[in-house]
Amino acid sequence: MNQKPVEIVETVLRDAHQSLMATRMSTDDMLPIIEKLDNAGYYALEMWGGATYDAAIRFLNEDPWERLREIRKRTKNTKLQMLLRGQNLIGYRHYADDVVDVFVKKAAENGIDIFRIFDALNDTRNMEASLKAVKKYDAHAQLTICYTTSEVHTNEYYVALAQELQDMGADSICLKDMAGILTPYRAQELIKNMRSVITIPINLHTHATSGTAHMTYLKAVEAGIDIIDTAISPFSGGTSQPPTETMALALAEGDRPTKLAVEKLEEIADYFTPIREKYLKQEIMTAKVLTADPRALIYQVPGGMLSNLLSQLKQANALDRYDEVLKEVPKVRADLGYPPLVTPMSQMVGTQAVFNVLSGERYKMVPKEVKDYLHGKYGRTPVPVTDDFRRSIIGDEEVITDRPANHLGAEFEQLKNELGELAHSDEDVLTYALFPQVGKAFLEKKYKTEPTAKIPTDKKEETAHIQAADEPIVEEDQAGTSRLKNYEITIDQEVYHVTLEEIKEGESRESSSETNRIPKTAVATASPEMKTENQPTPVRVGSGDKVVKAPMPGTIMKVKVSVGQEVHVGDVLCVMEAMKMENEIVADSDGTIVQVAVKENQSVEAGAPIVFMK
Ligand code: CO
Repeated sequence: MNQKPVEIVETVLRDAHQSLMATRMSTDDMLPIIEKLDNAGYYALEMWGGATYDAAIRFLNEDPWERLREIRKRTKNTKLQMLLRGQNLIGYRHYADDVVDVFVKKAAENGIDIFRIFDALNDTRNMEASLKAVKKYDAHAQLTICYTTSEVHTNEYYVALAQELQDMGADSICLKDMAGILTPYRAQELIKNMRSVITIPINLHTHATSGTAHMTYLKAVEAGIDIIDTAISPFSGGTSQPPTETMALALAEGDRPTKLAVEKLEEIADYFTPIREKYLKQEIMTAKVLTADPRALIYQVPGGMLSNLLSQLKQANALDRYDEVLKEVPKVRADLGYPPLVTPMSQMVGTQAVFNVLSGERYKMVPKEVKDYLHGKYGRTPVPVTDDFRRSIIGDEEVITDRPANHLGAEFEQLKNELGELAHSDEDVLTYALFPQVGKAFLEKKYKTEPTAKIPTDKKEETAHIQAADEPIVEEDQAGTSRLKNYEITIDQEVYHVTLEEIKEGESRESSSETNRIPKTAVATASPEMKTENQPTPVRVGSGDKVVKAPMPGTIMKVKVSVGQEVHVGDVLCVMEAMKMENEIVADSDGTIVQVAVKENQSVEAGAPIVFMK
């Protein structure tokens, strides 16, 4: 029986704010408290991972490597831990083995001690390269089991998987319950079973999403778990982890206390309380994620995914479709062979569910990533996908059955060349490799003096010039209310005449493709998500044109058609990045392009026109 103290990993610097507020905590809010965190008795501080890196360059204009170095400088006693998505590293595709090696090397050099390595499909072949690199650079390799439930995810399945990870050479094993669906008695049984064959430390990671996490941890401790993950109270609960202080105080009365100094935890909590208030006030954090939602037990939706779905639906003005999307998630998951809902599978399943609901037709729009997944490029699915389903999405195209990275040639040097003079360091090349568009834009900003960061303020002023021009066009909708208005908009001294359709908050954004309506929000509001991007360009429209609209907010990556071109149903009009996924926007009818309303690299709102056709 395990009689050692329970070790605690603090998640406030990574998972807690990822789960509660889409990973928006800034380095400035972290640095003043690092020394106190370092002296509180934690086993490790989890402080880096895919979302922290992504949000830093995408939204905070911060170099994630700089954050790592600054935190390392202030952390003398405690291990720093990161979450690594196996062959995906912290990006959204599989990288060649040489990129995996450079990434792990640089992360270790800059200060990471523990690499928690997982694969979204629990395909151990996808952890081999990062494990090898972590060993090579003398760091701690924690190999991970993504916990989920389905007909194949039995206790025997997990014990066999844990055994395999131990045999591969793991230094410890993490049982990662990203959805907060591991219930107390199941945890007790599962960990007892794992404990009987596993000799290395076992770490349990869960979320308070469904409300069972505190009990789950207690049962896990009784069953002999070595390490648990918690979040300091102001950033705990809801979709985040159970509170650190609460667990420390509760366990202090048992035979396996923690090593934490509760008075120091109190000071840390006092520091983070006003920070939480600030983010709540700025609506970066919403109260909705703070309460327990037992529906997670039904839908198996992880904390980070819940808050992402909410923020994406909010951006698409479709918050009222939340429940529908939640119900669609398990259906998509079953179609895809029961992948655990963890990055990138959580994004794929989530995005597909959102598309299925918002576009009004299941699998009308399928992100490239989901197609790649069906090609076997992500690894083995826990349950085979049916041939019928696969064929309905990718036809008879070839499917990979061995380790996906075997099909990738070395690519680091090529990526370095592509980045050219912006490649000031290997870290820069990695930023570009991991986030080709956003990473490159970030590096351009970092190394060039163009005041691109000022765009949002200017744009806000521009949108303020919108004024009613002519009398509203009277068009009756089903409710009999006039909703179309003409406006004159001045942008960069150019005058545009546009027709705006007023859409009430929370209303469905679908409208008929025969009209030339432009949703009000397409021109009139600047979303905070779009601060460094262009506003959609207002367009001059002819009557009787068919318009193809963006089904989701996103960024246009490639425009594939030009004016005068004839297109047929299913032809690709443009490629759009939406919810971090690449999507092809296709023609839904035959016709001729009369206007392309978007440019490459332009941000568009849901419902914004992409092309006009007749
Ligand atoms: Co988590």
